[in-house]
Amino acid sequence: MNEQIPVITIDGPGATGKGTICRLLAKWLGWHMLDSGLLYRALGFAALAEKISLGDEKALTALAVHLPVECHCDDPNAQTYILLDKQDITAALHSSEVSSAASQVGAHPLVREALLARQRAFLQAPGLVTDGRDMGTVVFPHAPLKLYLDAALAIRAKRRFDQLKEQAINASLPRLLAELEARDTRDKNRRVAPLLAAVDAIHIDTSTLTKKAVLERIEAHIKDHFPQWLPPS
Ligand code: DC
Repeated sequence: MNEQIPVITIDGPGATGKGTICRLLAKWLGWHMLDSGLLYRALGFAALAEKISLGDEKALTALAVHLPVECHCDDPNAQTYILLDKQDITAALHSSEVSSAASQVGAHPLVREALLARQRAFLQAPGLVTDGRDMGTVVFPHAPLKLYLDAALAIRAKRRFDQLKEQAINASLPRLLAELEARDTRDKNRRVAPLLAAVDAIHIDTSTLTKKAVLERIEAHIKDHFPQWLPPS
């Protein structure tokens, strides 16, 4: 991994706005991006399709090592899509079932290790903005700027509900809340690489902030502390 290439890591629980902020920041800087959750989701999807038990660490690790996944997700100006065995599985990756499977496969230490190199391969010049659960603590611990986004559970559930409604997908708010809570608990309590703010992370509570306000706060920090990253105007 080339540690000279700058990385901004964005960690935090689901529906805190990490994905959108990651894309907007990468766009603003002209950098690459990585939504690491998509790799865990693709693996969860493949495990469900192949009927591999989500508790079978050995079989899941073998699946992760050889997973024929292509993540077309590093260009913030292009639509993200994920191919598994050359099939476009993007639309299936955000179902409740796949979200839960992603969190369950991600609880296995050997699975996480198997996905490390694939994530680090996204680190390309001029820089990378990445979002996930362990970006600042495990995958890119040398990142010069680490962010940790959080928001109240009820607000996150409502955001997810509104997103689904916008896509004309029926959802139940109490069920979304319970699913997010179950995922938070599993992601925070796993033995390896739990969801955790890096000691040097900047915390932003997005509960009462618009995405624009969050972005402006981060951009101001970059202008003050990392002016060398700014694209030539
Ligand atoms: O970011 P997301 O909601 O798409 O992630 C889905 C699940 O994948 C999340 O609940 C836990 C797992 N995950 C992980 O364990 N580590 C990451 N870096 C990203 C996601």
